[in-house]
Amino acid sequence: MALFRLYPANQAGFLLQGDGVFLRPPEMRDYEAWSALRAASRAFLTPWEPAWSGDDLTRAAFRRRLRRCYEEIANDEAYPFLIFRENGVLAGGLTLGQIRRGVVQSGTLGYWIGAPYARQGLMTAAVRGVVGYAFTTLRLHRIEASCLPHNLASVRLLERTGFSREGYARAYLRINGIWQDHLLYALLDSDSLP
Ligand SMILES: CC(C)(COP(=O)(O)OP(=O)(O)OC[C@H]1O[C@@H](n2cnc3c(N)ncnc32)[C@H](O)[C@@H]1OP(=O)(O)O)[C@@H](O)C(=O)NCCC(=O)NCCS
Repeated sequence: MALFRLYPANQAGFLLQGDGVFLRPPEMRDYEAWSALRAASRAFLTPWEPAWSGDDLTRAAFRRRLRRCYEEIANDEAYPFLIFRENGVLAGGLTLGQIRRGVVQSGTLGYWIGAPYARQGLMTAAVRGVVGYAFTTLRLHRIEASCLPHNLASVRLLERTGFSREGYARAYLRINGIWQDHLLYALLDSDSLP
């Protein structure tokens, strides 16, 4: 995996490369592809995500989302990426968020793939790329992730990329409008990767 600085030093931006994918923070020029892919994947994604707001897919909401992304990157709070296939087509998104420093040095992974691109190994490649970035460039010690117990795709993804199941949290996240129990997973910088 290679990492390059993409933008002038005053703008937060990174390019990560994985097996058949590249990742970079979202930009305004991604709006059309992002909103089209999210709209086409709505039924596939909504059972597993926080409820979408009424204006979620609008240009104004995307602009607000970008502003927040850049603030979070600048403040070392979160690192949001879009995932592209090698041909430059947008396939999904992945965020390493809730960065905690001090004695914790951890981040939390969240991800989605567009319905047309599911089960092609793209998220496996994206997670592997971000894991390398998190442990080397960001120097994190621990990456956490959680998923609904019946989300087999997410469970498989986490186990395939080396995460260990550490626990079970009751009514942990409000997903699709309902507080739901979650499986808790984590990967340590000292874990051997598959
Ligand atoms: C979870 C998700 C990101 C996986 O992305 P993906 O690009 O399809 O994953 P990959 O192709 O890299 O596959 C990873 C593993 O999951 C398995 N998998 C993928 N979709 C699956 C499904 N519907 N049912 C069972 N296993 C599935 C793959 O077979 C693979 O495991 P294997 O190598 O043991 O076979 C995707 O299904 C998704 O976005 N789901 C909806 C949103 C969501 O669940 N977000 C995460 C909330 S925690």
